Amino acid sequence: MSDSPTLGITGVTGTIGGQVARLLAEAGESLVLLARNQAKAPELPRAVVRPADYGNRNLCEHSLEGIETLFMVSGRESENRMEEHHSFIDAAAAAGVRHIVYTSFMGAAPDATFTLARDHYATEEYIKAAGVSYTFLRDCLYLDFIDAMIGDDGVIRGPAANGAVAGVAQADVVACTVAVLRDPAAHAGVTYTLTGPEALTMAQIAHIVSTVRGTHVTFHNETIPEAYDSRRKWPAPEWQYDAWVSTYTAIAAGEMEHVTDDVETLTGRRPLSLKDVLLGSRA
Ligand SMILES: NC(=O)c1ccc[n+]([C@@H]2O[C@H](COP(=O)([O-])OP(=O)(O)OC[C@H]3O[C@@H](n4cnc5c(N)ncnc54)[C@H](OP(=O)(O)O)[C@@H]3O)[C@@H](O)[C@H]2O)c1
Repeated sequence: MSDSPTLGITGVTGTIGGQVARLLAEAGESLVLLARNQAKAPELPRAVVRPADYGNRNLCEHSLEGIETLFMVSGRESENRMEEHHSFIDAAAAAGVRHIVYTSFMGAAPDATFTLARDHYATEEYIKAAGVSYTFLRDCLYLDFIDAMIGDDGVIRGPAANGAVAGVAQADVVACTVAVLRDPAAHAGVTYTLTGPEALTMAQIAHIVSTVRGTHVTFHNETIPEAYDSRRKWPAPEWQYDAWVSTYTAIAAGEMEHVTDDVETLTGRRPLSLKDVLLGSRA
């Protein structure tokens, strides 16, 4: 595989990985696109597609042969996501990958209020222990997902109280990732926290959505039991309810409010705001 590309991109059938791959291909990079469903991978110039399901250790080790720098998009949330991450990182280390760029979450820590941020911390630690060089991109809440937080009745419900969140546009996460992948050595050992330009309370978010869309969106500050009850109409395992509810309690605890200048440092421009994202700006 000596003439093969040495830059591997996962998540290419999804939003972040797909856009990162497209921008890098447009910039002339040769890529290995790693997809668990190869048929869904985008067709890009100078790109080869190889199979990679994080939980399949042997398959991934083979597909990662010759890769020096790997962009690892965090896997779909599931009961065994951590085992899948470990398996994939083991495969990368065994295949000789030198640098992993990983999409983590703001405030990743063993005692983070947002339960999935604990898993991201554990994944970061596993990558460090694997002995490869790394860059962690700790994303705040995606501004693009605000719409999904609004109920059919125009109400955002959750125990976020007056806490604020410095949500980041996926387009900015993509731009930062591309900047890192084009010169990984310059970002080795660095953890970036990617936020938007401002921290907004859920009430402010509701107001901005209402103003931009001309609709009536409000915020209801649920109690924690109320939050679990209102989500039980969607059948899900208990860890999923914990993740959904703790997204809001983490905001209430102030764990997503700190605005950083990391997006501007990496891209050279001010990050997109919620209003920009609602208006469809892609920067
Ligand atoms: N910061 C936030 O607000 C926030 C919110 C939600 C999610 N996230 C995290 O950010 C990541 C990227 O976001 P996104 O919008 O790009 O997600 P997305 O569109 O759902 O894409 C996820 C990508 O990861 C691939 N993938 C998932 N599990 C995998 C596995 N076990 N093995 C191999 N590939 C796997 C998917 O492949 P398939 O097409 O085969 O499924 C897809 O290509 C998500 O995966 C999630 O972990 C962050």
